[in-house]
Amino acid sequence: MALTIRNLGERHVPVTGAEKVLLRYIHEAGIDWMHACGAKGRCTTCKMRVLSGAEHLTPRTAAEIKFFAAGRLRKDERLACQCRASGDVTVEVPPETQLPHQQYGQEKN
Ligand code: FES
Repeated sequence: MALTIRNLGERHVPVTGAEKVLLRYIHEAGIDWMHACGAKGRCTTCKMRVLSGAEHLTPRTAAEIKFFAAGRLRKDERLACQCRASGDVTVEVPPETQLPHQQYGQEKN
């Protein structure tokens, strides 16, 4: 299975199971991804917008529920440091958490 990042040129990140959070797989694939609090569920900078496959993600954690209630996460957004996947998921990096040195778009980088 894979995590596809639409606005990083449809980049496919291999996901071998739900034992690791998606941020770990993203970093293991060598992709720079914002994670200001060090993947502790305290900042929302690792958020991703889920375009398809949300049903394959683990339920929202307490941290995600808190940020959702506070209006800091949209309905279609999840924290990459909090959720795990058991099937194919397609996401994009929201504009507010895009890194300045990275090129975002749908063309292959
Ligand atoms: S890295 Fe801070 S909430 Fe995920």
